[in-house]
Amino acid sequence: MSLVDRDRAVLWHPYTQMLTAPAPLPITRAEGVWLYTEDGRRILDGISSWWVNIHGHSQPKLNAALAAQARELEHVMFAGCTHRPGVELAERLIEILPKGLARVFYSDNGSTAVEVALKLAIQYWRNLGQPDRKTFVTLHNAYHGDTVGAMSASEDSVFTRAFSTLTFPVERVHSLQDMEQRLRDAGDSVAAVLIEPMLQGAGGMIVWPAEFAAGVRRLCDRYRTLLIADEVLTGFGRTGKMFACEHAGITPDIICLSKALTAGYLPLGVTATTATIYDAFLSDDRSKTFFHGHSYTANPLACAVAIASLDLFRDEAVLANVSRLEQQLRAGFESLRARGNVRVIGGIGAVELASDRPGYLDQRGPELAAAFLDRGLLLRPLGNVVYFMPPYCITESETAWALDQIISVLL
Ligand SMILES: Cc1ncc(COP(=O)(O)O)c(C=O)c1O
Repeated sequence: MSLVDRDRAVLWHPYTQMLTAPAPLPITRAEGVWLYTEDGRRILDGISSWWVNIHGHSQPKLNAALAAQARELEHVMFAGCTHRPGVELAERLIEILPKGLARVFYSDNGSTAVEVALKLAIQYWRNLGQPDRKTFVTLHNAYHGDTVGAMSASEDSVFTRAFSTLTFPVERVHSLQDMEQRLRDAGDSVAAVLIEPMLQGAGGMIVWPAEFAAGVRRLCDRYRTLLIADEVLTGFGRTGKMFACEHAGITPDIICLSKALTAGYLPLGVTATTATIYDAFLSDDRSKTFFHGHSYTANPLACAVAIASLDLFRDEAVLANVSRLEQQLRAGFESLRARGNVRVIGGIGAVELASDRPGYLDQRGPELAAAFLDRGLLLRPLGNVVYFMPPYCITESETAWALDQIISVLL
């Protein structure tokens, strides 16, 4: 039996209508930007395997770091124990994160990094004697993950609607003006403002000006509330800077990281905070403890690969590659302006095609994905938004080839 037949007998895939979805790609190995299938095809990973891969698949230095760590310590619980990879990664992150972020709390994916941020914000105010600060202000078109808190903070959409009895209400805003009005009206009830700085990803690859994030920081200061930056997608160079907050020169009170943190190797989440937030949990009263954790908190294998990934940023021209990629994406996507709204930032190029039924369920998404796949390019359009987000290690000629495929399918 083929892998696909065996898969069909026992598996249930994410975001997949199992009745009608095409057969999954049977991937047997991968190297650089290329995926190899059981039936002999070579396919370019044009979305970095859901935005996680940055240095390429099966990267020799990352492979070596993972193997070495496996020989030393594979895992141990992180309550009451510590280990070198967990400590060293936190030290390295604090060195490069926006100045002022001083404490690292680990979890194991992007959604949990956001859940931790939401819970920290709520308990921070509670520990300070302000339990009524419990509302979150978020943005329309936001996407923060699929767990219940992260879904609540995300846009009300086909992803969340079936679960509306589980989610909690948030204040969704469109603009700085709107945000200021809500913050003014909501008085002391806002726990935090949560944004995806510079780029809203799953909501449709929407690029925001740096002034917006800077304005949000100013409003949070003026109305004395916390700013949470969800950099699960944007962190580690995706927008051209190590962290998207750098475009605006801001430090959030809490930052959420995952995806490219481990360069696409292993699940790991980080929620980093300022010392002010951390200090509000220090107490003789044990009820002020942050009661949150996961079995795989600070998994040493994941931390070791994350450290090796930061070494690559330090030792090789990784961000320069993103900048070269950005220039190429700008030139390539330019020719798609006739088809819709073009947006490019860092290593991401997107075009929002004009549509009668815009949104995730636009049927052109799967149709276009099939057309790209026929040409050997793996893309997963978000409905009528087609985007290309390859690993940063993609070469100039591989990028040129992928852009040719995108342009010839769309024009
Ligand atoms: C901005 C943002 N936050 C959170 C998440 C959730 O991450 P995960 O899929 O690892 O739970 C995503 C995933 O796409 C994301 O783009």
